[in-house]
Amino acid sequence: MERASDLALATAGNGSMNGSAHGSMASPLLEIRRICKTFPGARRTVVALNDVSLEVRKGEFVCLVGPSGCGKTTLLRVIDGLERADAGTMVLDGQPLAGVSRDMAYVFQDINLLPWRSVLENVALGLEVRNVGNKERRERAMEALQMVGLHDVAESAPYTLSGGMQQRVGVARALAVRPKLFLMDEPFGQLDNFTREVLQVEVARLFSRIEATVVFVTHDVDEAIFLADRVALFHTNPGRITDVVDIDLPRPRWEYDVRADARAIELRSRITQHLGAGRYLVR
Ligand SMILES: Nc1ncnc2c1ncn2[C@@H]1O[C@H](COP(=O)(O)OP(=O)(O)OP(=O)(O)O)[C@@H](O)[C@H]1O
Ligand SMILES: [Mg+2]
Repeated sequence: MERASDLALATAGNGSMNGSAHGSMASPLLEIRRICKTFPGARRTVVALNDVSLEVRKGEFVCLVGPSGCGKTTLLRVIDGLERADAGTMVLDGQPLAGVSRDMAYVFQDINLLPWRSVLENVALGLEVRNVGNKERRERAMEALQMVGLHDVAESAPYTLSGGMQQRVGVARALAVRPKLFLMDEPFGQLDNFTREVLQVEVARLFSRIEATVVFVTHDVDEAIFLADRVALFHTNPGRITDVVDIDLPRPRWEYDVRADARAIELRSRITQHLGAGRYLVR
């Protein structure tokens, strides 16, 4: 039987019929090959990632979907260098990845803005650790805030912002870094449906415009279908990729009702069946 890792690599070459989120692209920006990660413990040992392989092309939007505990966050953390893999290799833009890379930006589910800093200073945080000078830091942070429509509140305290605005600040913080790769871990998971949908459209528009390459974790199959060029489906125990689905829907997807689209309904059915008839899905 075909192994999941081979499957992920094989399907990596098939672009969506309608191109990616951001036009045509060929070369993989990120190559993940046969990553394994086990968390040993006295009570239980967890195989969080078992032989996980995936390629993400330049300008591609890939969603990771799967039940809780299947290793999605672990994979992002391994890619970002926050966690060390037990085995396997990763290459970003032709360079082997080892440790924390400055070429990636991570958007967390819980943005955790520093309350004693202004919105602008929070956005500039990633630039500080990259030793970008004060003037350039402010300029780039302001530009990123403009991109997410928050330049008016640059000098405000984070607690004065709504939940949706705070998530936008998190996106701006990543944008300011101008990374080669965006890693996003359920960035809209804690928002109400309406705000989430607004942010989905904003992110789709913005990332399409800047031709961003994105690995995006979500529990929400509709969100994945709206945003992704491809969806990697995870299973748990051990955590692994069991299928990669091309989302061959026309773009831009904010110009029509994706959820009512016949092909989107087929894709959703295929994904939810694969994940276990929807019983794992948490919206
Ligand atoms: N630092 C750690 N120490 C021990 N076990 C861990 C650690 N980090 C993750 N795990 C375990 O690894 C497995 C995968 O966790 P991970 O957080 O990657 O799942 P996930 O797919 O992101 O889940 P969720 O959808 O709930 O966020 C889980 O069983 C988790 O308990
Ligand atoms: Mg997680």
